[in-house]
Amino acid sequence: MSTPALRLRGIRKAFPGVVAVDGVDLDLTAGEIHALVGENGAGKSTLAAIAFGELHPDAGSVESNGTVGLVHQHFELVGRLNVWQNVLLGREPRRGWRIDAAAARERVRALSKANELDIDPDALVEDLPIGAQQRVELLRELERDPSILLLDEPTAALAPAEIDGFFASVTQLARRGTAVLIVTHKLQEVIAYSARVSVMRRGRIVAAMPTAETSVDEIARAMVGGELPQIAQRAQTTPRPCLTVHALQAGSAESGVTGIDLEVRGGEIVGIAGVEGNGQTALADAIAGVLPYRGSVRFTPELSPKRERSRVETSVIPQDRHVEGLVLNFSIVENAVLGRQNRPGIRRGVLLDREKAREDAQAIVERFDVRAASLDVKVRTLSGGNQQKLLVGRALIDQPHFVLAYNPTRGIDVGAAALVQSRLIETRNAGTAVLLISFDLDEILALADRICVIYRGAIAGRFDRANVERAAIGRLMAGSQ
Ligand SMILES: Nc1ncnc2c1ncn2[C@@H]1O[C@H](COP(=O)(O)OP(=O)(O)OP(=O)(O)O)[C@@H](O)[C@H]1O
Ligand SMILES: [Mg+2]
Repeated sequence: MSTPALRLRGIRKAFPGVVAVDGVDLDLTAGEIHALVGENGAGKSTLAAIAFGELHPDAGSVESNGTVGLVHQHFELVGRLNVWQNVLLGREPRRGWRIDAAAARERVRALSKANELDIDPDALVEDLPIGAQQRVELLRELERDPSILLLDEPTAALAPAEIDGFFASVTQLARRGTAVLIVTHKLQEVIAYSARVSVMRRGRIVAAMPTAETSVDEIARAMVGGELPQIAQRAQTTPRPCLTVHALQAGSAESGVTGIDLEVRGGEIVGIAGVEGNGQTALADAIAGVLPYRGSVRFTPELSPKRERSRVETSVIPQDRHVEGLVLNFSIVENAVLGRQNRPGIRRGVLLDREKAREDAQAIVERFDVRAASLDVKVRTLSGGNQQKLLVGRALIDQPHFVLAYNPTRGIDVGAAALVQSRLIETRNAGTAVLLISFDLDEILALADRICVIYRGAIAGRFDRANVERAAIGRLMAGSQ
């Protein structure tokens, strides 16, 4: 076997209350795509940061044979700069002492074209949807062309069509000799594109095998250390009116919605299936009341227009957990009450009831299996998937009348995803109206009682659970009949 491009030996890293990486050996070979999988909190991002040199291990050695690049799980872009400025930061083409903006723009355009990552070089990064930000982050590393490329959940926010294009370019890189490590929760990707897979569990590598010799099921069992949990059964419910959306128009011409009718009743999950960028964000933001709209959004029981929102309890699992959801420098307890200050029992007079806040945080941590050293750690120190579980738990803990769930299992491992999906079904069984917007058609098919396909801002087709046809939904999502 050739000398490894990257060799990790005996890596150990502890944080207060947890050993994140516990004696890991790992080799990356030039020209090979190596997948690293494991439960949320298993230590994957910590290991990647150590391999990159961003974090120092407590013990062990890192030897690399070339330059190392890392695409972070949580993007590190400068929102105020545009796409080409972010991609080329510090490496801009110059003319004399001036940045040559035209050449820079062209370089980024060519790079995005070559990698099939569609992006406008002049767009301001903070205005971009999360999938596009993911593409920018990728382009930035592709532009640097390192000989060892570490990718931490690079496809978590990409649409299925983009994922194919992305892997086509990663495969190209590997053919040219780049050593690639890819962290992902999408086990089909592991099977389809990687040559080897290493499975981490509680800080250790518990299995490592050539991908050709394993399967999605075997990898999943190695990850969770047993069988996957079953998804909760759907109970018979008597749907009652809850949310009625009529002739909704909101957002821009390219990414808005153009006249949507929708009803979500208590005791049912309505799934919005569609490829990212077809109006899902405008739909969610209009319903959440943070984007102006035309048409109507009514919650039942109807009171005066001003009071209806406070009467009908609603909660949101937002698309971007960092921008709209969690305050990273607050503790789990503090985050557990954010946005719930007016819920019954949370207040004692004008103050928050601290004991109740702790109890709720504890309940969320237990019911949603949030893995953390204590309730008082900053949310920043939780692994990505555990942050997501906290966010979902907070949205569901009060059993509100209505829940808007936007990609609720993004970045969550297969075992925890089954848990979160079960909690959504239980919430529905108990009478909550759930609007599920997901880019993952399998998730919609697993959960929804009714499915609406959204395409270019309009509903292109509607299905009941009894008469779903996967192929027909797929065609509508792609814009054909
Ligand atoms: N800066 C930090 N301070 C304290 N604890 C940390 C810190 N960074 C990570 N941890 C802890 O280390 C463990 C491993 O976290 P890591 O982010 O590596 O997990 P992961 O495998 O990447 O999970 P995910 O799939 O959710 O992204 C977790 O228990 C996490 O809470
Ligand atoms: Mg991670």
